[in-house]
Amino acid sequence: MMDGQQRLTTSVFGTLPDGKEVHRFVLTSPYGIEVSLCNWGATVLQIQMPDCNQEMGDVVLGYDSLEGYLHDPFYLGATIGRVAGRIKEARFWKSGKRYQLGRNAGLHHLHGGEKGWSRILWDAYPFETNHSSGVVFRYICKDGTEGYPGNVTTSVRYTLCGKTLQIHYEATTDQETPLNLTNHTYFNLKDGGKTGIESHKLFIRASHYLPMSEAYVPDGSFLPVYNTPFDFMKPRKLAKKMDLPDPQLQRAGGLDHCFILEEEPYVPCMAATLREKTSGRSLDVFTTYPAVQCYSGNFLDGSQKGRGGTPYIRRAGICLETQYFPDSPNQPLFPSIFLLPGVVYQHQTFWRFSWGE
Ligand code: GLA
Repeated sequence: MMDGQQRLTTSVFGTLPDGKEVHRFVLTSPYGIEVSLCNWGATVLQIQMPDCNQEMGDVVLGYDSLEGYLHDPFYLGATIGRVAGRIKEARFWKSGKRYQLGRNAGLHHLHGGEKGWSRILWDAYPFETNHSSGVVFRYICKDGTEGYPGNVTTSVRYTLCGKTLQIHYEATTDQETPLNLTNHTYFNLKDGGKTGIESHKLFIRASHYLPMSEAYVPDGSFLPVYNTPFDFMKPRKLAKKMDLPDPQLQRAGGLDHCFILEEEPYVPCMAATLREKTSGRSLDVFTTYPAVQCYSGNFLDGSQKGRGGTPYIRRAGICLETQYFPDSPNQPLFPSIFLLPGVVYQHQTFWRFSWGE
């Protein structure tokens, strides 16, 4: 269904305590998808699309106002940097030097720490072409922030084209530093998070996953998914998987594991598909990253009132965080996430939506 033109509108989303304005950008595709973004955390605020009965509805979790995002403990829709996931004991060594990072998850460092990139105001540059619209978010993270070395200049470009939202990450540094950027959108294709994700079917193109230790970081081993509840090589209904009596699922309270796609592919490859039968909606994820952290929203606890006052209960949404492996700076067998001066960090993830027409 093609209806109307590709459009972009900008409005004020709210004001920060220091008086700075935060903007909301709404991208509308002629195919009926509407994506809202904001420059607080370079965040995906909302994605709306038709279902199989052509009824528009939300497919991601979010808050109605900036206030919700300022107090959000769950990273709804946010860009995560400098390093996605946990860094064990908030420290790593590089070239004989020890780097101590901020601790914001017990003894550990999570999602870039208190001053992580989900909690800062980015510069925003909206753009339109004949067939697409989008926003480039830019940020310069200063040397020493949260204990990381180097000034890092980064941009995250969102482009909506047809039924696909592309996220393009780019960064450079003036000192060697770890970098592992992702987006923390929670999907619920059925109803945007009013109920749980149990009815969804998930496919992940991964033959191995990383089991986690009690610290919620990979224990360093690689396990085949074959004959385990982690086998999503064929689409599997989440309801049948998340509470199986498996020690890894029980430790995490569901899925919160890194699935290995393949060595950094350089061209975007199929990573995962999420499908929901009653709505007829589906999402295909393509990426240049070598892994996807699949997190079934196990920490959501109803404490945060989301869009329209909906309390986001446990497993109201699922994150498919395309990225490198968590805790890589402390894991010699994992692909390195250290970015060198003179090298450009570049990654892309595509979310392609459909609704069973
Ligand atoms: C990630 C982690 C989870 C959790 C959430 C944030 O996806 O893997 O363990 O910390 O972020 O709530």
